[in-house]
Amino acid sequence: MTALSIERANQFIEEKEGTLDKTFYPAYHFAAPIGWINDPNGFSYYKDQYHLFYQYNPYDSVWGPMHWGRAVSPDGIDWSHLPVALAPDQPYDKGGCFSGSALAHDGKLYLMYTGHLPAEDGRPLRQNQNIAYSEDGIHFEKYAKNPVLDEKDVPEGSSVEDFRDPKMFKHEDYFYAVIGSRTIDDKGQVLLYRSENMLDWEYVSVVFQNNPYLGTMVECPDFMEVDGKAVFMLSAMNYTDKETDVFYPHITWFVEGEMDWDTQTFRMTHIKELDKGMDFYAPQSFSNEGETTMIAWMQGWNNTIASDTLKHGWAGQMTLPRKLFYEDGILKQRVIPTFEQGLHTIREEKQITVDGELMLTEKAPKYAMMQIHVADLTEMLQVRLGEETKERILLNIDGANRELSLDRAQTAYPIKDRDGKAFDKTRRLSFADKKELLIQIYYDTSSVEVIVNNEESLTMTYYTSEPLQYWSIISDVPCVLHNLKIAE
Ligand code: FRU
Repeated sequence: MTALSIERANQFIEEKEGTLDKTFYPAYHFAAPIGWINDPNGFSYYKDQYHLFYQYNPYDSVWGPMHWGRAVSPDGIDWSHLPVALAPDQPYDKGGCFSGSALAHDGKLYLMYTGHLPAEDGRPLRQNQNIAYSEDGIHFEKYAKNPVLDEKDVPEGSSVEDFRDPKMFKHEDYFYAVIGSRTIDDKGQVLLYRSENMLDWEYVSVVFQNNPYLGTMVECPDFMEVDGKAVFMLSAMNYTDKETDVFYPHITWFVEGEMDWDTQTFRMTHIKELDKGMDFYAPQSFSNEGETTMIAWMQGWNNTIASDTLKHGWAGQMTLPRKLFYEDGILKQRVIPTFEQGLHTIREEKQITVDGELMLTEKAPKYAMMQIHVADLTEMLQVRLGEETKERILLNIDGANRELSLDRAQTAYPIKDRDGKAFDKTRRLSFADKKELLIQIYYDTSSVEVIVNNEESLTMTYYTSEPLQYWSIISDVPCVLHNLKIAE
């Protein structure tokens, strides 16, 4: 086998272009030109464009040798694919260029990424951190003195095998990087490093100490200030909810707290799962002109993906970029406004009563945004995409139990988990403390993102044999909806 390189990857992508089966390919969510993607990396805004890198195996629709794929967009919605930015072509990253981040400095775009070194020739598995930079934002040169952080820089008591996913940011006179880690007795934690010039890095602290929410390992930590408040966004492995005894192999947290720059430690004050869907992991953010924008991998580990099972040549996609902000002291999210600006409204009702079944559209748009506003719901209200007796997706808004759930059980290609069991039973989003619900549904060929009160969300993928026609809203008792809107 020829060695892995950027040239080889780009040539492969060019040769295979046009061979994809696009049945499930998203109309407006980001997906790769071919092959497998996972985490967003280096999500940034640089020279008036959104930049997205991503964990990428161009050669197959399953996880494999990790490259960094690359795309740019003027508005965060329309992406153009650019040549692959990084390939695992060095002795220090030959097991893969794992996740990392980007930061502009001195007219250059810097990348920091994890070099993965599998166990080999009697040497155990190791992970290290590396720098690459670019002046044109297209061609990246790996720093000659890589790795910039390796096992010697890991504090005592922390694993040298699981040391990955640096997220850089600037604070006062230093560049910092938070890095995912675990203690040697398997407790998740986050490490902090700093540099004056982006090239020479030093260990600072265990910035976020282990606590039960951090599971056995933290992946993709991201530290940011949203409207002046310190927030950690991170993904944790093997978390068990002690109250319900539910085990989550992967979970994504948004943690609010206080950053003490004297002791270089973060103290958690509040934690929540921003997305309670089945396909949301490894989100990453950037800040630009005081605004924070995030994007996540719209997929979960270890679940089947129909575009892979059916050999369509691609797998994995990203959520829509979402803005994070505070309103009345609550951390909120909303899809970036450029998305809606590009749509036109096909139905709008200031107020409408649903009594039985209300048909919304008979010919579903290829993609759409739908919004409803409902107050004082006491019964079940159901949004159904698809016909009653055919493939369908249901959004159940359960007024009696005060919870929302998405149901993808009735689709042609059910998603299975690693044990081969159907992974269709949705998780639930409680709205016990809310009187009013503003529900926004972003519908695409193989995904739905539901955002509730600009606060929490349910994100999932699905695979049907045909686009879902006939959309309706169903209620057994008269139910008043406000501000109904469908745009495509
Ligand atoms: C998270 C993750 C990262 C790692 C990458 C490998 O989804 O496991 O921790 O860097 O994916 O592709």
